[in-house]
Amino acid sequence: MESTGFAHWLVVAIEAGTAFLLLLLALAVVVVLVTWVVDRNQTANSVLRNFPVIGHFRYWFLHLGEFFRQYLYSSDREEMPFNRAERTWVYRAAKNVDNTNAFGSSRDLRGEGVPFFVNAPFPALGEEHVEPVPVTIGPYAREPYSHASFFNISAMSFGALSAPAIRALARGAAKAGIWMDTGEGGLAPYHLEGGCDIVFEIGTAKYGVRTPDGKLDDEKLLAICANKQVKMVSIKLGQGAKPGMGGLLPGAKVTAEIAAIRGIPVGQDSQSPNRHLDIGNVQQLMDAINHIRNLTGKPVGFKAVLGGVEWIGDLCDEIATRGLQSAPDFIIVDGSEGGTGAAPQTLMEGVGLPLHEALPALLDMLIVKGMRERIKVVCSGKCITAYDVAWALSIGADFVNSARGFMLALGCIQSLQCNRNTCPTGITTQNPKLQRGLVVADKSERVYHYATNLMHEVGIIAHSCGVDEPRQLDRTHCRVVGDDGLSVPLVKLYPYPQAT
Ligand SMILES: Cc1cc2nc3c(=O)[nH]c(=O)nc-3n(C[C@H](O)[C@H](O)[C@H](O)COP(=O)(O)O)c2cc1C
Repeated sequence: MESTGFAHWLVVAIEAGTAFLLLLLALAVVVVLVTWVVDRNQTANSVLRNFPVIGHFRYWFLHLGEFFRQYLYSSDREEMPFNRAERTWVYRAAKNVDNTNAFGSSRDLRGEGVPFFVNAPFPALGEEHVEPVPVTIGPYAREPYSHASFFNISAMSFGALSAPAIRALARGAAKAGIWMDTGEGGLAPYHLEGGCDIVFEIGTAKYGVRTPDGKLDDEKLLAICANKQVKMVSIKLGQGAKPGMGGLLPGAKVTAEIAAIRGIPVGQDSQSPNRHLDIGNVQQLMDAINHIRNLTGKPVGFKAVLGGVEWIGDLCDEIATRGLQSAPDFIIVDGSEGGTGAAPQTLMEGVGLPLHEALPALLDMLIVKGMRERIKVVCSGKCITAYDVAWALSIGADFVNSARGFMLALGCIQSLQCNRNTCPTGITTQNPKLQRGLVVADKSERVYHYATNLMHEVGIIAHSCGVDEPRQLDRTHCRVVGDDGLSVPLVKLYPYPQAT
């Protein structure tokens, strides 16, 4: 009796299921037919006009390709901005797992532009190696800053990055003894978690330190710099990914908290001006630097992407007139290959000098003008592995910053979604559901390990070259492969100039 009842219900369920499937099928046919008619008769898209319905798959595949090409199709050394070999190196350094490879390198060592280092026949013994010596920035400031770590976290704003990402960076930075730059979005409480050294950036919109009409609010800046963690102030003139354009934060990312910290309306696109309203020439730049340094007592410098260095020469001449103490305490030179939360492709790809041209040009101008000792040089632009950083130190940088290296350490999978609030790893999204994926306690350890392992490996390069610490590397220690497949020493490519 019971089994007859069960069979009855089974038949009813199968009939209902079949009817449902038929309904779905009918609906699908209607959708396809309507789409076919719409596609065929629309005038805007020629692919869909010629290939109605199936033409849509092209967009789907294009979208999926962004995610899957790195896993399925691209070779280890092929992708941009960072190829799989580079990303894997960072991931492994961050996870603090074995970073050795087997059999041989997949890097073509004869490729144009490839740098390599010149090992010494008799390198220093392990016990002769020394820790990097602290470099003092801002000797004339009331609170000079001495800092040893040559690899630090580049400017990325709270807004471009999520709160958990900032927290993980801040805690990791504190543990690794490196600084973290706030980027142009103001100082958030998350930057202060863990107690790392902070470089406070003033962007062109002066977010966090602005008056209602966009000028510098001295009181707000003083309040921020009263915090002992804030060690230096950086005036952002520009960044490599968008020279001549201000920051851009899409409205979807402007939450109430971010709006309050920046001093802007909630939910609206936030576009900062393409330059500081009050800095239109070298003299005004010097005025701003000296005003902020006198006000805060902190070392003050600026960040720029270079189109040339003549204006740096003019700046040095102005310093010579005003006196050495008036000089910027540091210059952060950002290569045009630099990253961003959001920028137009045209500016990203077509404007500004890449780091391998900008860094030696800047350093040489400072040497020529006798300012090299006074002005410390920080550089950034795709320096995410030990040999990128060792190259920059060999050219002569005092410090190297990285933004995207640290994003990879946080778990970034290079899905190129930073401008869309849809970052799948929770790093560049303000969507709490996606932020859930980023566990601060775990990722801060990765930040710490990435920084310390990278600096350790730069130390290995330095010791192999026969010097005691990485900042002793110079242009004789690195060679770069030319278009004939043969390498030339950096010192031949960029000979040290004479001071005038
Ligand atoms: C998500 C993101 C946000 C950024 N925000 C800022 C910013 O607020 N201010 C700034 O000066 N640079 C900003 N940058 C540029 C970086 O600080 C850095 O100069 C550039 O990306 C080069 O370093 P990298 O090649 O290691 O990423 C940002 C970069 C990224 C990827």
